[in-house]
Amino acid sequence: IGLKDDSLVDIDNIQIVACGTSFHAGLVGKYWFEELTGVPCNIDIASEYRYRHAVVRKNSLFITISQSGETADTLASLRLAKEQGYKHTLCICNVNGSSLVRESDFTLLTRAGAEIGVASTKAFTTQLLSLLMLTLLLAKQKQSLDEDKRAQIITSLRQLPSLCEKFLAKDQEILQLASEFADKHHCLFLGRGVMYPIALEGALKLKEISYIHSEAFAAGEMKHGPISLIEKNMLVVGVLTQPDLYEKMVSNLVEAKSRGAYIMGLTTYGNYSIEDTANFTVYVPKTDPHFATSLSVVPLQLLSYYIALERGCDIDKPRNLAKSVTVE
Ligand code: G6P
Repeated sequence: IGLKDDSLVDIDNIQIVACGTSFHAGLVGKYWFEELTGVPCNIDIASEYRYRHAVVRKNSLFITISQSGETADTLASLRLAKEQGYKHTLCICNVNGSSLVRESDFTLLTRAGAEIGVASTKAFTTQLLSLLMLTLLLAKQKQSLDEDKRAQIITSLRQLPSLCEKFLAKDQEILQLASEFADKHHCLFLGRGVMYPIALEGALKLKEISYIHSEAFAAGEMKHGPISLIEKNMLVVGVLTQPDLYEKMVSNLVEAKSRGAYIMGLTTYGNYSIEDTANFTVYVPKTDPHFATSLSVVPLQLLSYYIALERGCDIDKPRNLAKSVTVE
């Protein structure tokens, strides 16, 4: 990246700014930075950040996340951050030579390869991994993470591609569910902890490419309003791969089911008690919970893909959307 070790040690605050799918990756990053480095992290949608008179804390690192590196609001936020006096600006970006890369002090390239489809998929996965690697680097400099734990996360990181491949071989199960739900009008996604942003991303993918109205909620918020939306046979997707939040998530799904929802549970192998509640379960391989994010998003992307296919939508070029939003 180019950020010197002593500069990393001095970082006391992090501000992330991004749009769309990149914003969801940033939300996951906030959980990781605070959990593994102890450095407070704030995140804003770029179109909000640029107009909200944010307080710049001392020794702050300003991070933008963008697949294209050309998103107008993200770029404007970076320019504002430089005027505001951030100590360092870093962009996590997939396009070398883009405006964001040229104008940031430091760059972490995601190297996902050219992403052609409008809806971001592989760029998201690499954004998550880049954020995790950055977190580990900062944790090392800050000495905030046990060396064994750090090594264990890195070992799991190396296993991730083969786990993803194994999972992709089983996409027929998801195809079956997709064909049953292709004619629905509404869908809810629920998650807690780092899986809340993954639920947000699942809902975004579904609405982007299949035009089904889909929303995601932090599962604990259901009783504060969203539960009133549940109708008989409405698809509710629960993402429950975090061991410490599993039981809480199951309770939320039980509440949804008792109001008539059809439950899809997305969890890791071993959590078989979910079958008492879920009508349909997708299992992902067990791994370090940090990587359950990158693994869990794949079945959600496939679900959207197959539903959109069933509905005859133009998956790579959804209506009204652009790959790169270069105007405000
Ligand atoms: C558009 C794309 C999304 C993307 C968002 C942010 O809306 O359709 O897929 O997540 O822009 O783009 P960026 O290039 O900044 O990640």
